[in-house]
Amino acid sequence: MTLFARGLRLLATQACPALSIQPLCLSAPCAAIQKLTRVRVVDNSTLGSTPYHRPPKCIHVYNKSGVGKVGDRILLAIKGQKKKALIVGHKMPGASMTPRFDSNNVVLIDDNGNPVGTRIKTPIPTSLRKNDGEFSKVLAIAQNFV
Ligand SMILES: *[C@@H]1O[C@H](CO)[C@@H](O)[C@H](O)[C@H]1NC(C)=O
Ligand SMILES: *[C@@H]1O[C@H](CO)[C@@H](O)[C@H](O)[C@H]1NC(C)=O
Repeated sequence: MTLFARGLRLLATQACPALSIQPLCLSAPCAAIQKLTRVRVVDNSTLGSTPYHRPPKCIHVYNKSGVGKVGDRILLAIKGQKKKALIVGHKMPGASMTPRFDSNNVVLIDDNGNPVGTRIKTPIPTSLRKNDGEFSKVLAIAQNFV
């Protein structure tokens, strides 16, 4: 009996290091844009288009919920700088009839909400037109809507 128990304990200690690391949360809410989410700048600003060893990352979401969706503003860490950006697409499914994107897309904006680039390289959601007044300058440089 004691031998058996000792054997079990031995087995347990041997099994422990073999425990595999669980994959990090992959459920839908985690694909929304929140702190530390990597994003893709889809305008043609020099800052957003030149490669850098670290991808741009969200460091703040200007929304009480802390989760950014299309039309929300975020603060980005990009090339050692802090820049504001507008979310124009995300992987997480949004409201029905809104498109889902393969990447978390943002457009760089200045403090007044004006786009830093002069062209947006990917389609942006038609739903942004609802906030037309607020984002009119961003909408004006879009090439396509989905
Ligand atoms: C962005 O695109 C516009 C129009 O194609 C072009 O005139 C401008 O020079 C581009 N800007 C950069 C930084 O590449
Ligand atoms: C925060 O998100 C909600 C839901 O998407 C939105 O209705 C609201 O306008 C956002 N608030 C700010 C300050 O962006």
